[in-house]
Amino acid sequence: MDLTYRPRRLRRTHALRSMVQEHSLKAADFIYPLFVHEGAEVEPIQAMPGANRWNLDNLIAEVERAWQLGIRCVVLFPKVDESLKTEEAAECFNENGLIPRAIRRLKKELPEMTIMTDVALDPYSCDGHDGIVSSLGVVLNDETIEYLCRQAVVQAQAGADLIGPSDMMDGRVGAIREALDDEGFEHVGIISYTAKYSSAYYGPFREALDSAPRAASTKPIPKDKSTYQMDPANAREAITEAQLDEQEGADILMVKPGLAYLDIIYRLRQESELPIAAYNVSGEYAMVKAAAQKGWIDERAVVLETLLSFKRAGADLILTYHACDAAGWLRDV
Ligand code: PBG
Repeated sequence: MDLTYRPRRLRRTHALRSMVQEHSLKAADFIYPLFVHEGAEVEPIQAMPGANRWNLDNLIAEVERAWQLGIRCVVLFPKVDESLKTEEAAECFNENGLIPRAIRRLKKELPEMTIMTDVALDPYSCDGHDGIVSSLGVVLNDETIEYLCRQAVVQAQAGADLIGPSDMMDGRVGAIREALDDEGFEHVGIISYTAKYSSAYYGPFREALDSAPRAASTKPIPKDKSTYQMDPANAREAITEAQLDEQEGADILMVKPGLAYLDIIYRLRQESELPIAAYNVSGEYAMVKAAAQKGWIDERAVVLETLLSFKRAGADLILTYHACDAAGWLRDV
């Protein structure tokens, strides 16, 4: 055939392919989510093989392992004792609560690791919602924000580097920015869960923290989070959320979940110059693990291909439970 262009010329050898590769992964792209609890043991999480609830001693060792693999940021989630959960979730700003203690300990023993936190009420709420639920069953916006600000300040006081509001209340990024600045934490960043969808992919995470919405009392409790998390049908709305977060002072924008929302990552990349993070959530992790355990897919190849797809779509950072495995595999190649 008389062809001028033969794209296969640049695919002919490994060396040529590596020369023209447009995107790549490195360990410092990953943010490693970790679950902490008060228990004495390391507890495996059923629907997330390979992920555990760590106690504070074991957490240090796991974070040290991540650092050795080149990971530079971890995000902490608490499995709060049921006896501490209330309708107002005030445990979220207890300075001696699980998360502040974990941050202080990590900062003392591994001061260089970046610590990200999650700001929302759900792990501390007996109703399992990210905000305070009124007696009529409405998730209250402005009242919740006061609590979120106190939670963020307590996390910053403990030594957090990046505050991650995951609650989707309106105006929380600006309010948290102001609260942090007022307390002298202008150096602490905000990685906002900007486009967080009301998704079924969070199931295993809610199992890990026992944090699913539920009726604990007689008041009506919304069964899902669709009055504050975004409708999976909407894309333009994500741009509005991104514009608001930028105006309110977010340092990094996040899209969550990641895999079913690559188009949203791509669109935010076009709209904003801020760094963008993708959250490869618990349900995405569970699906890969289940298929791999059955021998139906090659776990290593599928994970690296998936993580690369986030970079190709425009993400700079990836929150992923595969972080340590992937960092190890990247070393081998
Ligand atoms: C809490 C929060 C959730 C996740 C991160 N922070 C759950 C939710 O919003 O219900 C999900 C993470 C995952 O599924 O991996 N607001």
